[in-house]
Amino acid sequence: MYNLDIILTHQDINVQAVKGKACVAIDTLRATSTIITALIHGCPEIIPVSSVTEALHLKKNKAYQDYLLGGEIEGQYIENFHLGNSPIDYCNISLQGRGIILSTTNGTRTLKKLKEARLVVICALLNARTVAEWITEQESDVIICCSGRRGNFSLEDFLTAGRLAAELRAGKKALAISDLAFTAAAFYENIKKSSTNNNTILKILKNTDNGKRLIKAGLEADIEHCSQEDITSLLPQYKSGSIKQLEIPDLKDSMPRSSVI
Ligand code: MLT
Repeated sequence: MYNLDIILTHQDINVQAVKGKACVAIDTLRATSTIITALIHGCPEIIPVSSVTEALHLKKNKAYQDYLLGGEIEGQYIENFHLGNSPIDYCNISLQGRGIILSTTNGTRTLKKLKEARLVVICALLNARTVAEWITEQESDVIICCSGRRGNFSLEDFLTAGRLAAELRAGKKALAISDLAFTAAAFYENIKKSSTNNNTILKILKNTDNGKRLIKAGLEADIEHCSQEDITSLLPQYKSGSIKQLEIPDLKDSMPRSSVI
């Protein structure tokens, strides 16, 4: 029987833990939500990098000179970059045929730590059901890798991990679930059981440390966007340093609310 486990921060990821395994990368607020949104809106490829210097260096390469630069440093826009790390930014411009070089504080660093994994997919609440289905097809242990923030656990990443673990517990295929994955599933199931309306996930995200930081920066709409569950069946894969989609989403059904307001 295969195992399902969770790593809580990118600082905790090591080669031993992920080598040869199927990994799911999560940064709910906001990197993985932004990556998924960019792909929904036609971006063919995203290259995650771990620093602004690396981004600028890559852009000088002929193969990447037409790529847009996106990302943030501690949540702030980066001078001379075309885009920030707000998923809303990526809803409002045409990304058809435009690749992106993305540098973020935690999310892209999580991905860079997963080079030894057998397979890596990108997950947020936006595509959680599709990722859960993908996990059930894996013939290896699965590690859900949360990004966290500044080396600390992030509740919103744990919530998304819990959504995946809850789906897997309810599904047909048996996976041996670690204590942490069991706790995450129970956390998510309890929220769903006790919620009286559809806004419960949004309320929780707004009350997280990252949520409060985004509200303070005037980016509450980003939290609303990222709180949406299952708006796309897109399954982005990180392979050989590049992120591309594995499935074409049904754009009509999966258009983020924030992009159509
Ligand atoms: C990150 O990668 O650290 C985050 O996505 C930060 C942010 O909200 O921009």
